[in-house]
Amino acid sequence: MSKPVLLLISGSLRKGSYNRMLLAEAARAFGEAEMVEADLALPLYDGDLEEAEGVPEKVQDLAAQIKSADAIVIGAPEYNKGITGVLKNALDWVSRVPGGAFRDKPTVVISASAGRTGGETAQFMTLSCLTQLQARLVPGTAVLIAGAPDAFDADGRLKDEMSRKLLAERMARLRSELA
Ligand SMILES: Cc1cc2nc3c(=O)[nH]c(=O)nc-3n(C[C@H](O)[C@H](O)[C@H](O)COP(=O)(O)O)c2cc1C
Repeated sequence: MSKPVLLLISGSLRKGSYNRMLLAEAARAFGEAEMVEADLALPLYDGDLEEAEGVPEKVQDLAAQIKSADAIVIGAPEYNKGITGVLKNALDWVSRVPGGAFRDKPTVVISASAGRTGGETAQFMTLSCLTQLQARLVPGTAVLIAGAPDAFDADGRLKDEMSRKLLAERMARLRSELA
């Protein structure tokens, strides 16, 4: 297989996002690939907007990125024990694009959060949405980075060896699932 395309989707728009840092670690662990970063700065889903103007171009671009990716990693932050509006909005929009972009797409969800549970609830909710979208959820031990502000060093590398190991195992499994 030629270089696989790995799509990284951050559920946080922040430049300094810990989920972005975690996605960067995931990308390094995945190994050689063409990395593509999704942009979830989309308008809010609005059925009236969709009816009047159709699916926005940025959403169509995102759906095309998902469709042409060989594998996807989603960094799902936790807001108020749930999925972020940014990520849910993107999933909702993408679900409106005909053709089921996520269908059968090898996908892993990982999370970093400031709290003590590492974003477990948000990750669970994201997996639930992705089931509806018929993504191929690659199994493995959950990667949940708790206390995110202290979990990365100045270079954005994960400090905890067990977390690095879990992430590496997860990415190796994702890679092994590629057609
Ligand atoms: C509106 C809001 C709600 C939050 N709720 C939670 C929460 O329920 N659990 C948690 O662990 N952290 C929560 N946090 C803290 C986030 O984990 C923290 O801001 C984290 O850095 C967000 O991810 P990011 O760094 O990728 O942007 C919340 C933050 C915000 C802004």
